[in-house]
Amino acid sequence: MNRYRQSEELLNRSRRVLAGGVSSTLRAAMKPTPLYAVAGRGARIQDADGHTYIDYLLAYGPLILGHGHEPTVERLLSSMRNGLAYGLQHQGEIELAELLTKVLPCADQVAFSGSGTEAVMLALRLARAYTNRRRIIRFHGHYHGWSDTIFTSFPSTDMKASRKRNVMSQVIRYDNDTHPTEARVIPGTGGQSEAALQDIILLPWNDAEALKDAVALYGSTVAAIISEPVMCNSGCIMPKPGYLELMRELTAANGIVMILDEVITGFRFGLGGAHGVFRIMPDLVTIGKAMGGGIAISGVAGRADIMELIADGTVSHLGTLNGNCVATTAAVATINELSRDGGAVFARMEKSAADLSEGLRQAMKDHDIQGIVNQAGPVFHLMFTTERQVDSFEAFQKRDADLYITFAQEMLEEGVLLRPNGLWYVSAAHGEAEIRETLAAANRVFARWGEDKS
Ligand SMILES: Cc1ncc(COP(=O)(O)O)c(C=O)c1O
Repeated sequence: MNRYRQSEELLNRSRRVLAGGVSSTLRAAMKPTPLYAVAGRGARIQDADGHTYIDYLLAYGPLILGHGHEPTVERLLSSMRNGLAYGLQHQGEIELAELLTKVLPCADQVAFSGSGTEAVMLALRLARAYTNRRRIIRFHGHYHGWSDTIFTSFPSTDMKASRKRNVMSQVIRYDNDTHPTEARVIPGTGGQSEAALQDIILLPWNDAEALKDAVALYGSTVAAIISEPVMCNSGCIMPKPGYLELMRELTAANGIVMILDEVITGFRFGLGGAHGVFRIMPDLVTIGKAMGGGIAISGVAGRADIMELIADGTVSHLGTLNGNCVATTAAVATINELSRDGGAVFARMEKSAADLSEGLRQAMKDHDIQGIVNQAGPVFHLMFTTERQVDSFEAFQKRDADLYITFAQEMLEEGVLLRPNGLWYVSAAHGEAEIRETLAAANRVFARWGEDKS
């Protein structure tokens, strides 16, 4: 019997009218079929065929409190009774901005937008206007959204276009004879202007020498360095000791705006994001995903003298639904919930991720499967690889991505929903029962693999 009959039928119906059948390219990658959801509650989600899964996809990150967090839903319902959007100012946006300037160490002021992509777009514009320079340094394997000026080098296995366009093999060569800028900056999608990427300098991340060299060569023309504080999008790789500090030093010394893209790490690593945990003060951060707990909201936060460019009209900040009352209500409710008991929930989520990571490592060992789990706070990446450690993008690229897709598919049959690229998100709603069930499921899958081998 086909377990996913309803989802398949819905996908066929959808394909006739919805381009690609799904609403974001990544979602098409799920095997054996993109699932249709009907409801979510806490750490679990139910599909159209009536199966319930423990959810580690978490809507690609936003559901930091899990599905349908009751107090947040209540606050949203009562706010929505007063209207869904005004196009006028309202106290909710002040309340949220005050909250953010309190909890984010680098935030003197904030500006709201709808998606992480837009937040990055605004941060880059602010940096270019502030410095009157145009070049942007970014890093191989990081993702900063899909706008024309930044979308490159996101070799996600769950994206058809990156396979098609050979982004997977876009390897940086960096040695004494080859300058880092010679890494070709390939558009991330068809239809993207190559010219829009001409100001991008693409460097290997966590490589102090490459960064120093590039800044020495191009520093006076570089507007910004943008980096994920932890390379969550490619292997959950932590910054090497001193690397972000070096980035801070070099940017400060050369008048470059340092942007940390905290769209994943913000409100996940702690209330103050990764920059709060690492005690690094960037000039700007971008935030999104977890901030709204599942409602679309993002933003840029940072230094007053840079954010001031919005106030004086130098940089336009546009968006019909920016800072709308539904989004600000969701964000205030989410942040308040995360703040309870001095932010104790962050340690709990981190412990859940650590227990899962350790359990998965043990399961792989028990079943003679070679793999690595890189955990960073409440997020981790499971990779099947023969590498001894994955601490660079190069090492990450050596994983067996197809085997992981098979693993995700088999875990689905065991009642666990995973993103097919290896990244796991853990929410406040994941407890001991979910962790126990998940590890039992992984052990069953690995045991079957062992039987198949013998
Ligand atoms: C680090 C980072 N920045 C920006 C984005 C883009 O955010 P959005 O998908 O909301 O446009 C993402 C999305 O995954 C991300 O991981």
